[in-house]
Amino acid sequence: MDLTNKVAIVTGGAMGNGLGITKALLKAHARVYILDYSEELKKTIKDLKKDFSQISGYIVDIRDSKMLEEIVKDISLEEKKIDILVNNAGVAKLQSFAKMSDEVRDFHFDINIKGTWNVTKAFLPLLKKSKTGRIINLSSVTGPMVADIGEVAYATTKAALIGFTKALAMELAPKNILVNAILPGYIMTPMVENIAKETDSNNPEKVIEGIGLGIPLKRLGTIDELGNLALFLASEECSYITGQTFVIDGGSTLPETNSVGV
Ligand SMILES: NC(=O)c1ccc[n+]([C@@H]2O[C@H](COP(=O)([O-])OP(=O)(O)OC[C@H]3O[C@@H](n4cnc5c(N)ncnc54)[C@H](O)[C@@H]3O)[C@@H](O)[C@H]2O)c1
Repeated sequence: MDLTNKVAIVTGGAMGNGLGITKALLKAHARVYILDYSEELKKTIKDLKKDFSQISGYIVDIRDSKMLEEIVKDISLEEKKIDILVNNAGVAKLQSFAKMSDEVRDFHFDINIKGTWNVTKAFLPLLKKSKTGRIINLSSVTGPMVADIGEVAYATTKAALIGFTKALAMELAPKNILVNAILPGYIMTPMVENIAKETDSNNPEKVIEGIGLGIPLKRLGTIDELGNLALFLASEECSYITGQTFVIDGGSTLPETNSVGV
């Protein structure tokens, strides 16, 4: 797949899935701008520059729509259009529903739903100038398909992104902007390391091992595997698919029981 002359925005690309996606797009020769609120972004850009000159980024919180507008203006000085928007930035914090404060609820809603909304709104005018626009939203199997204890806020936001994906796909089809969602199972990222620590701070490795054992492929996914799926959805080869959801989970959502079998 070749993304020469394509311009991509990836939110949350400083680490984890966003980094895997960024690398896949860069390898296919896209120009990529990462938007991330972590200072880690500086190190990521420095590292990526060693192999890819066409990478840059902005430190920004996607809750800040004013700053997003400024960034769009800045990017417009360099780029006439944006071809690919990957709404990847997201947060997850385990907490029981009964104990969850409104602040923790809003932390999820504000970043995972409203942040995705803000970035899409801000970049839409530039995306409309592309002949092959693509929006890829990072939902999850958590929410639309399955859930673990402590994930009510997170699951709610990830399910919301399916509605966002489908409704936006309808509105943007006349502009040939394809909008799809990726639903990952467990991919090995800093987010999953934190979830493991929240579950058992004394033995997070055991939690990760337990996750792997419950997956038919017996391991967590890698950010490169996730990046390859995003690359396909971003490419011109993906030309007749919109409003759809793509599960990448090593089969984790397959088992009907854990007791029946021969
Ligand atoms: N890792 C998994 O197993 C998994 C599974 C399903 C879905 N996902 C989804 O994939 C996406 C990425 O997850 P990850 O595991 O790589 O997470 P991560 O925590 O490892 O990385 C997330 C990145 O997003 C950035 N970010 C978070 N909030 C931001 C904000 N308000 N503004 C700007 N940047 C922000 C962080 O700084 C970080 O660089 C998320 O949307 C997540 O819900 C992950």
